[in-house]
Amino acid sequence: MQPGGNDAPPPPRHVAIIMDGNGRWAKQRGLPRVEGHRMGVRAVREAVECARELGIPYLTLYAFSLENWGRPSGEVRTLMALLKEFLTSELPLMRKHGIRLRVIGETSSIPFAVRQVLARTLSATAENADMTLTLGLSYAGRNEIVRAVRRIASEAVEGKILPEAVTEDLFSARLDTAGMPDPDLVIRTSGEIRISNFLLWQSAYSEFVFTDVLWPDFGKSDFLRALEEYSRRHRRFGLTDEQAGAPPAK
Ligand code: IPE
Ligand code: IPE
Ligand code: MG
Repeated sequence: MQPGGNDAPPPPRHVAIIMDGNGRWAKQRGLPRVEGHRMGVRAVREAVECARELGIPYLTLYAFSLENWGRPSGEVRTLMALLKEFLTSELPLMRKHGIRLRVIGETSSIPFAVRQVLARTLSATAENADMTLTLGLSYAGRNEIVRAVRRIASEAVEGKILPEAVTEDLFSARLDTAGMPDPDLVIRTSGEIRISNFLLWQSAYSEFVFTDVLWPDFGKSDFLRALEEYSRRHRRFGLTDEQAGAPPAK
């Protein structure tokens, strides 16, 4: 990656991707939507490999949203089958490369057979420390926030915490992403310019890169392009250019 000069931000520690456009990819080819999802798995593999080669310690992929349960049952079934397949087929590579799998989302809604495989892959990779691959499964940002609030409310009712003890750090630690750094960069494919309930709390100061490329076509060169765009950003976190160490705006 070519950094964007002396003032470029440090390389992202956490990249999160909203993998969108599988259906349209298939439609363009006169194929059923599920074929787009099948090809999407290939792009997932490539993105993981790319992040690993670049030494990005956290990669988070939005694979299935809580809202996606509302899709036609055949499509949901195929997505679950592909997920199950992926969790099994990728395990040797995750082991080999020290990749830890994590999951965020309301996983209790996932079919039992898939949850079993998921639990196996999670525990088989739990000690890996080279890279964390997080999958958003049955994930929605608002739902995650509500679940965190419920946990805090329970702790308060049990007398374990006082209202004054609720801080941003305590709240973050009750989210599914507990212990992970916030995403520095969020990429969304397929030309849609929206967040679709992804990492609402965590993306407060993320940089966003939107690309028209449909997810099944998203390859290493697209990943590198997004990182290059990121390297040209000036992150200010609410401060002035001078305070943030970035050059004054042109
Ligand atoms: C992304 O592709 C995959 C999932 C949301 C599961 P889509 O299936 O949303 O593809 P489009 O947006 O319909 O093209
Ligand atoms: C977002 O894509 C969810 C995932 C990528 C898993 P969607 O296709 O579900 O989002 P909308 O409906 O276009 O906002
Ligand atoms: Mg979509």
